[in-house]
Amino acid sequence: MPVYLDHAATTPLSAEALAALTRELARTGNPSSLHGSGRRARRSVEDAREALATAAGAHPSEVIFTSGGTESDNLAVKGLYWARSGEDPARRRILCSAVEHHAVLDTVEWLERHEGAIVTWLPVDSEGVVDLGILAAELAGTPDHRARDGHVGQQ
Ligand SMILES: Cc1ncc(COP(=O)(O)O)c(C=O)c1O
Repeated sequence: MPVYLDHAATTPLSAEALAALTRELARTGNPSSLHGSGRRARRSVEDAREALATAAGAHPSEVIFTSGGTESDNLAVKGLYWARSGEDPARRRILCSAVEHHAVLDTVEWLERHEGAIVTWLPVDSEGVVDLGILAAELAGTPDHRARDGHVGQQ
């Protein structure tokens, strides 16, 4: 019997989530439309946004639906970088674990090449855990430069 272990890539939907998704997929309506079908679709989206925000301890305005992981990573990493460096051009440092998904690694490298980001790759141990001592030193501004040798990429 096959055993599925790649939950980092994707994970089975719970029966409850599958039922909710199937129910919504069977309905027609664009949440941007002004007629009844559109308003119903808008209500479903906003109810989902509020439920997710409550579960995450966030404000609904902080929940942004995207089409997938790569888009989410780009939005989070570039959005945070541009928000910070836009407020204060000196805030250009990015600390990033060396074993992130390529959607994160490539986004950070792009910011380094094109947007002047100053990147520190944080090494991880054999279990993939970031060395918190090195992270604390980087955050305190007394970097342990072994961290710069830690960019090992990802398979
Ligand atoms: C952190 C991370 N980013 C991006 C992706 C890629 O997601 P997508 O194929 O939805 O763009 C994955 C998939 O495993 C992921 O784990």
